[in-house]
Amino acid sequence: MLLEDKDRIFTNIYGFHDSGLKGARARGSWDGTKFFIDKGHDWIISEVKTSGLRGRGGAGFPTGLKWSFMPKADARPSYLVINADESEPGSCKDREIMRNDPHLLIEGALLAGFAMRAHTSYIYIRGEFIRERERLQRAIDEAYEAKLIGKNNVHGWDFDLYISHGAGAYICGEETALLESLEGKKGQPRLKPPFPANVGLYGAPTTINNVESIAVVPDILRRGGHWFAALGLPNNTGTKLFQISGHVNRPCVVEEEMGIPVRQLIDEHCGGVRGGWNNLLAIIPGGSSMPLIPADLCETLTMDFDSLTKLKSGLGTAAIIVLDKSADVVKAIARIAYFYKHESCGQCTPCREGTGWMWRVLERMSRGEAEKSEIDKLFDVSKQIEGHTICALGDAAAWPVQGLIRHFRPEIEARIDAYKAAHKEAAE
Ligand SMILES: Cc1cc2nc3c(=O)[nH]c(=O)nc-3n(C[C@H](O)[C@H](O)[C@H](O)COP(=O)(O)O)c2cc1C
Ligand code: SF4
Repeated sequence: MLLEDKDRIFTNIYGFHDSGLKGARARGSWDGTKFFIDKGHDWIISEVKTSGLRGRGGAGFPTGLKWSFMPKADARPSYLVINADESEPGSCKDREIMRNDPHLLIEGALLAGFAMRAHTSYIYIRGEFIRERERLQRAIDEAYEAKLIGKNNVHGWDFDLYISHGAGAYICGEETALLESLEGKKGQPRLKPPFPANVGLYGAPTTINNVESIAVVPDILRRGGHWFAALGLPNNTGTKLFQISGHVNRPCVVEEEMGIPVRQLIDEHCGGVRGGWNNLLAIIPGGSSMPLIPADLCETLTMDFDSLTKLKSGLGTAAIIVLDKSADVVKAIARIAYFYKHESCGQCTPCREGTGWMWRVLERMSRGEAEKSEIDKLFDVSKQIEGHTICALGDAAAWPVQGLIRHFRPEIEARIDAYKAAHKEAAE
């Protein structure tokens, strides 16, 4: 069954209605906000824990638990930083929240900031998102004018919200690179520990959350953590914005329950795979870094964290890239490898050298210009990168390559055979 309208959080995700304060209020935003704040910091954290919400930025870490790591008494200020960098290829949900339902994010920021005792929050927005920033800034200005946020606001918790505009580097979406960039430095990830909850922005306690993670908080509090927890599957609760692109008839962003079968998502919301379901080759399930899943496994696949982990892939940001049988799967993964090579910040040798090496080998393999023994070597090198770097960009570069070899080794071998046969003939 599809998500019922009564359980929808993002009721203006397509921008059909007013994105301003008046429209947002009519849809229920800013309703009861003071009541939730009066219940106290710990009540909000406990309700978010009850909801089972897991971070929507990719890793799926439990949000309430993450908030509870913030110190309750500290001489330093606390910060909430909202990650609106959204640069993973395929991901395109946060931009829809910011331009069409920005008050959900602003109200969520106030509630999350209050829960973690932060009087200041920054939204770090992707460099290319100019219109989204303008729309969001307009909504922030409205919230200040209506005294919903700012000093001496009607909610009784001083709260300043600033937008910081990135310059288009994918790595600045990694939370510690983001903090460096926010501080005006080169956007390169920090070594952890210390973790941001202890030493974050300007050396002070900081929590970094994805836009969607924060934007769902007001509705979780209004309807109760148990309501959210009852949607989806155990340990994979709630609704989720799915983004489907590639070889489907109608690419879209749509809110659905966690755990929806991927076939239902594609058939009912995207008008099906181009050329029909039997023309499906594979999907990349969670943004370009997640290992692909071949068509036969998609038949019964449900879209949630745990199901995808079982298949050695991941939900990531729930950005599904569909490949039909016309796609050159080796070339597609080579192109993804080029992206990660281009975006590596260069601090760690395995990532700096390995991403370029994998890309060059994959380019040759896409033409069949390789030895079969190189397939195992490529897999091995990807394993040497995975888990051996400062940040997860190394993993993000390694996983698509591993997915290709795991599921499409015969395709790579066939190309090598074809190349050898063609060149043998030419030599004779
Ligand atoms: C290379 C790289 C890029 C990332 N880009 C983003 C991004 O654009 N947006 C985002 O929310 N998280 C991104 N993340 C994940 C963040 O580091 C962080 O886990 C996330 O913002 C936490 O929010 P959540 O707990 O609400 O999911 C990225 C991680 C890596 C390693
Ligand atoms: S893994 Fe790559 S992107 Fe991340 S810190 Fe190391 S070199 Fe930079």
